[in-house]
Amino acid sequence: MPFYRQQGNIPPKRHTVFRSESNKLYFEELVSREGFNSLSSNIYHHQMPSVLVGTEGFTPVQTNSHSLGHGNQHIFTARLNSSGDCISARSLLFYNVDLLVHKAHVDSSMEFLYRNGHFDELIYVQSGNGSLLTNFGNLKFSSGDYIIIPRGVIWKMEINEKTKLLIVESTGAIETPSKYRNRFGQLMEHSPYCERDIRTPILGNPMNGQGEYVVKVRLTNGIQDMLYGAHPFDVVGWDGYYYPWIINIRDFEPVVGSIHQPPPVHQMFQAAGFVVCSFVDRLFDFHPNAIPAPYYHSNVDSDELIFYSKGNFMSRKGIEEESMTYHPMGLPHGPQPGKYEGSIGVKSTEEQAVMIDTFKPLQLAADVASILDETYPDSWNSN
Ligand SMILES: [Fe+2]
Repeated sequence: MPFYRQQGNIPPKRHTVFRSESNKLYFEELVSREGFNSLSSNIYHHQMPSVLVGTEGFTPVQTNSHSLGHGNQHIFTARLNSSGDCISARSLLFYNVDLLVHKAHVDSSMEFLYRNGHFDELIYVQSGNGSLLTNFGNLKFSSGDYIIIPRGVIWKMEINEKTKLLIVESTGAIETPSKYRNRFGQLMEHSPYCERDIRTPILGNPMNGQGEYVVKVRLTNGIQDMLYGAHPFDVVGWDGYYYPWIINIRDFEPVVGSIHQPPPVHQMFQAAGFVVCSFVDRLFDFHPNAIPAPYYHSNVDSDELIFYSKGNFMSRKGIEEESMTYHPMGLPHGPQPGKYEGSIGVKSTEEQAVMIDTFKPLQLAADVASILDETYPDSWNSN
């Protein structure tokens, strides 16, 4: 995140002697992006962070595709057969070279630490609540939160109740959109959210243990169990711009106009190869002849996924909570019959939805086969 944070104790100057009250030297670790040329944080450990005791099992992660003809699709993700912790419960839905989109119905806390070595994670909390424990400190989360976990952060998720998550693994960093930031990185006045809406980790007491600590490390094609020689949460302090963070979808202030506003006004995040938009409760267009429902459109350069989180979705028929629609690039789509005309004169909408627009074609994954709405491709053909 492009703003500075500090937690715990750090020395007054980087790369200098920093000792405990018992005169033990702390170990400094720089976690940095793009070599040494982008965001970074300095972490101070009780133990040397590079001690690896060994490696154990490797669990492959498959990306099996589901073959369907080219067309618009709708899946009922609430009906997925998913259970386990935040890692094991993941069902892959869509993917391309830039991202993987999973849904997870989590019914147990993680009993291990995890580090995504090759992807940044964006986790949208559909329902439930819990805590994200990390080597930068802890964050509580609940419904509507977007949890951003940059690669390299070591974490585990504990839940208080059954928790449903939409998860994106991204090959690039998840960022606030450039168009909202000034040249110093600060979110500007026209941004639909600001730094005050962003929650950052609170560091607790260090876990100063030595022994064997399993950290499951996500690599491009699987998960490697690695045994660390010191507990990765042995951190006495850190500072910098690199850490996990959370923002809630309800802190996104919608932009409205006299006529229909296009999806870019709903943009929440940017990443290499895709953007994420948040649709939230808002007043509709106030021109006397406005048509609030979206006009029919062909996005010839992007595939569109929409996850319908909560509320009533005025432009779609047959959609339920946790539905997900897929509209591939080049195919016109828009409101189903009756929805376009029916939106005239409507004053407001109460909805929460997450849209992911990708710049390369998506593959449908094998897990969508059992939750597919086979009527959807023909849903514009009749009343
Ligand atoms: Fe669309």
